[in-house]
Amino acid sequence: MGKKYIIVTGGCGFIGSNFIRLLVKERPDWSILNLDALTYAGNLDNLRGVQGHPGYRFVRGDIANEAFVRQLFSSLEAPVDYVVNFAAESHVDRSILGPKAFIETNVNGVFNLLECVRAQGKGRFLQVSTDEVFGSLGDEGAFSETTPIDPSSPYSASKAAADLLVNAWSHTFKVDTIITRCSNNYGSYQFPEKLIPLMIINARQRKPLPVYGTGQNVRDWIHVSDHCLGILAALERGVSGQVYCFGGQAERTNLFITELIAQTVAGTTDLITFVNDRPGHDWRYAMDITKVRAELGWTPLMPFEDGIRATVAWYLENEDWWKPILSGDYLAYYDKWYGQLAPTTKGGSL
Ligand code: NAD
Ligand code: DAU
Repeated sequence: MGKKYIIVTGGCGFIGSNFIRLLVKERPDWSILNLDALTYAGNLDNLRGVQGHPGYRFVRGDIANEAFVRQLFSSLEAPVDYVVNFAAESHVDRSILGPKAFIETNVNGVFNLLECVRAQGKGRFLQVSTDEVFGSLGDEGAFSETTPIDPSSPYSASKAAADLLVNAWSHTFKVDTIITRCSNNYGSYQFPEKLIPLMIINARQRKPLPVYGTGQNVRDWIHVSDHCLGILAALERGVSGQVYCFGGQAERTNLFITELIAQTVAGTTDLITFVNDRPGHDWRYAMDITKVRAELGWTPLMPFEDGIRATVAWYLENEDWWKPILSGDYLAYYDKWYGQLAPTTKGGSL
């Protein structure tokens, strides 16, 4: 592949930082502009080791700020070849506590980026979307590219709204777009509000492990490295206007994951505390990956057992990364959210 100029938005978050690390390794001659607002979820420390790379540049800014985004694009020395949009408010529970930021970033932000790519008259826009736009599955079946969207939470509704904008800009304005929809990611640098890092860190600190409802909800877990490889494949080889679904082929219940982490980290499952369910909690996600296997030659490479072992080890070895996060804002969020989820069958306090 030739040298490319790419804007990665949300590159200081979990998946975005893993994607930039992949680019630096696999596409070392590309110019990378990382545009990130550094919200609570953005962390420059996620890119340690990358900052000195000659093709890498960081700009702090908000994709929901129309004037700022326009100014940034018009100040570029050349039009970009690619925009990959990771920037988002990404946590379902926070979208229940306060949905407004989700509309601003996940909907208005995408509108601003699409308009800038349209104004360039060239360049491919890849929207990093989610399987949550499909809503919830029962015990059988799987989502695919042809599944109608039917989101349940403020987060997934905002992501679905963005996907509709992307499709409209493709159909009406002929902007070159790709949408990727992926299942639940895990791996290093994931903010400890999400299930896997939260359980590892709580277990490490011998704190209660809050399992929503019965713990029987199912997610299809994919290692972040596989998701990033899928995004790169779709970016370079995907057909304009298409949707590509990625999943890890690793369905597990939340209780299975929590017990595994509890045993591995604390040597006991006694810390598990069942709490009231998340309002509107989707029951099950699973992805049919026939299309990406056939058209992109992509398949998940990381077996779940290897990935989870490596992820637990990474968090245990990188307390210097997560300890500073467990302060002011995080503790306020934790107390507010978990404070309202009363323990159910097992008792104990959070
Ligand atoms: P994250 O919350 O870890 O990171 C989000 C990043 O976006 C942060 O660096 C944050 O500072 C930045 N950001 C937020 N609002 C911004 C704004 N207005 N302007 C600029 N930057 C802003 O999220 P993640 O888990 O890495 O998810 C990245 C993307 O992938 C999201 O779009 C999410 O919807 C999607 N996705 C996530 C998963 C998953 O399992 N985590 C699965 C499928 C899709
Ligand atoms: O499916 C892709 C989506 O996966 C992404 O689009 C989202 O950005 C990402 O946050 C994730 O959403 P989930 O809601 O599935 O992930 P979360 O880690 O918040 O929760 C995973 C499951 O674990 C879910 O069924 C809720 C449950 N859970 C979560 C937390 C934080 C608990 O039981 N206890 C908890 O404390």
